[in-house]
Amino acid sequence: MVITRSSELDAASDCNYDRKAEVKAFDESKTGVKGLLESGVTKVPRMFHSGELNLRERSENDSSFTIPIVDLAGIHSNSALRNEAVGKIGSACQKWGFFQVINHGIPNNVLDEIINGVRRFHEQDSEVRKHFYSRDKKKKVNYYSNVNLFTNNPADWRDTLGFLVAPCPAKPEDIPEICRDIAVEYSKKIRELGHTIFELLSEALGLNPSYLNELGCVEGTFLLGHYYPPCPEPELTMGTTKHTDADFMTILLQDQLGGLQVLHNNQWVHVPPVHGALVINIGDLLQLITNDKFISVFHRVLASQTGPRISIASFFINYDDKAEGSTKVYGPIKELLSEENKPLYKDTSVKEFLIHYFSKGLDGDSSLRPFRL
Ligand code: OGA
Ligand code: NI
Repeated sequence: MVITRSSELDAASDCNYDRKAEVKAFDESKTGVKGLLESGVTKVPRMFHSGELNLRERSENDSSFTIPIVDLAGIHSNSALRNEAVGKIGSACQKWGFFQVINHGIPNNVLDEIINGVRRFHEQDSEVRKHFYSRDKKKKVNYYSNVNLFTNNPADWRDTLGFLVAPCPAKPEDIPEICRDIAVEYSKKIRELGHTIFELLSEALGLNPSYLNELGCVEGTFLLGHYYPPCPEPELTMGTTKHTDADFMTILLQDQLGGLQVLHNNQWVHVPPVHGALVINIGDLLQLITNDKFISVFHRVLASQTGPRISIASFFINYDDKAEGSTKVYGPIKELLSEENKPLYKDTSVKEFLIHYFSKGLDGDSSLRPFRL
């Protein structure tokens, strides 16, 4: 099979390409990738060309691997069921860094409605949508396409509505009315579930149930409502470029279309949509404080001709009151260390870690490397 990287082809065919101008015009349209389609675009513009070896990696996927599914039914009342869930979660976090949960207590109608709410936002009239388009970090609600648009990285085929949930939540009146009520309800339920999952993760590490919550892992939360429009040439771009999450933990709700993949033993493995399930993944900061016991793994979303695909990612990471990473310092948890298990990371503040994470961009390298001892 002949493999060509589209970015190499691009570079060879046109040295006068002005990426900056293309990116600027796109951002100034304030209507995202969805806006490109609305304006009649039928080819993927150059700024989105990723050159990733999509097709080859897609065909090599081995379906004998699957992400563990953990049933949370009965964990609050039955200690045998709780221990069973804790055991499964512990092994999933060590082997995969990913698992799905069912019977987690958030009703299906709430899950369906937040997906619909995010869809309604991205599909409303572009003139209305435009007013929310912003990259102002001081704002607690932002609509934008690609957080790293102004770098040299290829842009992803995706738009996002993001808002802060804790510790200084966006005011409900600042959340677009078209999805406001469900956004508030879903956020509240996600905070409760986050608290429970951190208890289970603490137990899986052999710590007190309240350990990770008391450490502040549950202090901060923000939500991103992603919208992946159908893509006319999905082999040329990505829905989300390969990355790890910076936070302690992410709770992801995806719709029924699929496309999310996790890198496991050097193979891209699909995370199959399960109606009513939530996907949980370990972020870089949890890998750091667990001294590599739990792993933060690369994942990505393929672009697809079928769409739109909608997902809602809830990130747990603590902030200060300016919505920047908190100055709280984290290092490997002392109780997990021993003569045989020496600390692998130096202490770092959330803020310092995030500065590095965002300056590095989603370039596929490990964000934790500079913090290793
Ligand atoms: C993310 C992410 C996956 C998805 O937002 O960090 O990995 O399915 N999202 O949208
Ligand atoms: Ni992610």
